[in-house]
Amino acid sequence: MSNNYRELFQPAHTLIGMGCINEIPRYIDALNANKALIVSDTGLVKVGTVKKVTDVLDNAGKPYEIFDEVVPNPTTAVVKAASETLQKGKCDYVIGIGGGSPLDVAKAVGILAVNGGEIRSYEGVNKTNKPGLPLIAINTTAGTGSEVTRDYVITDEEKKIKMLMVDSNCLAYLAIDDPQLMLDMPPHLTAATGMDAITHAIEAYVCKSSFPYSDGLALEAVRLASKSLKRAVQEGNNVDARTDMCWAEYMAGLAFSNSGLGLVHAMAHQLGGFYNMPHGVANAILLPYVMEFNSLVCKERFVQIAKVLGIKTHNMTADQSSNAAIEYIKELSYELNIPPLSSLGFNPCDVITLSLNALDDTCLSDNPRTPSLVDVQNIYMNAFEGK
Ligand SMILES: [Fe+2]
Repeated sequence: MSNNYRELFQPAHTLIGMGCINEIPRYIDALNANKALIVSDTGLVKVGTVKKVTDVLDNAGKPYEIFDEVVPNPTTAVVKAASETLQKGKCDYVIGIGGGSPLDVAKAVGILAVNGGEIRSYEGVNKTNKPGLPLIAINTTAGTGSEVTRDYVITDEEKKIKMLMVDSNCLAYLAIDDPQLMLDMPPHLTAATGMDAITHAIEAYVCKSSFPYSDGLALEAVRLASKSLKRAVQEGNNVDARTDMCWAEYMAGLAFSNSGLGLVHAMAHQLGGFYNMPHGVANAILLPYVMEFNSLVCKERFVQIAKVLGIKTHNMTADQSSNAAIEYIKELSYELNIPPLSSLGFNPCDVITLSLNALDDTCLSDNPRTPSLVDVQNIYMNAFEGK
């Protein structure tokens, strides 16, 4: 018997807007917690982003330990090292500061501290029994949606695969999107993470589990990103563009956390696991080719996407609108200087392994069209050849 209700997943609290990090101490007071483990990376320490948050904690007399060894596509070894710092420091809650990688590790550490065991055993959907430690998830990129979602991704360095954990026990206690932490983000990172947000919204909108709540969020996310992503890349200090991208990425995150993703993410995870390729870049490259593949089964959905991208569709057929949306995404990636797959270490000899792994990825089940092994291989090769 199928359920006739939906459960919604979201952080307990959210703050979005300039200066909102200053409100963190009152949420810590409400938690009655003693000491935070801050999970971040050396880059964010170096540019002073972590200091902006620790200044707020210092002024409020809130103690913390810092673990800053998160790397892109973080591995189980990184999670283990962060967990050891948490235990040694006797920390009882976690503050993640970063884009997807630090927030993914922050979630994993909180889950392990309460549930024990190895992070590998939690791959899949809702594999834990208890909520993780309270998590304050401070986003510094406008892309991954990690501060809002019940998902995290950890790389299994032995198998060279990315493990996706979908677990409502890792949802943040407090999610923060403060544009002041994003003003210094370099153009290439703004572009890649922005394309990740657009991919979240488009996959959430066309996936099998989409429903009116996620539809509304996804379409508005696409509209806002198409309006402001280029400006955020070109004028990093533009607060309005950065704020629009905060909303776009938050809504896209909320959309896919409640509906699902699809083939773009299933395939992009393999490029990340195999070649350490930045997640947003892999998504941006694959997105138009997967849209082409999916459009056969949900053309009307792509017409709606074309409309919110600002394409004038009134004199177009559904096919033309859908194709125009696909061309728009290709053109956007080009304008944002997303590098081609051929320059990122992709080797056509690996395509069968990559495709087999993509067919095993948790994200695939929600894709609107079921691909064969040959379909996936063709999409990788079309993206590689830029067809
Ligand atoms: Fe993503």
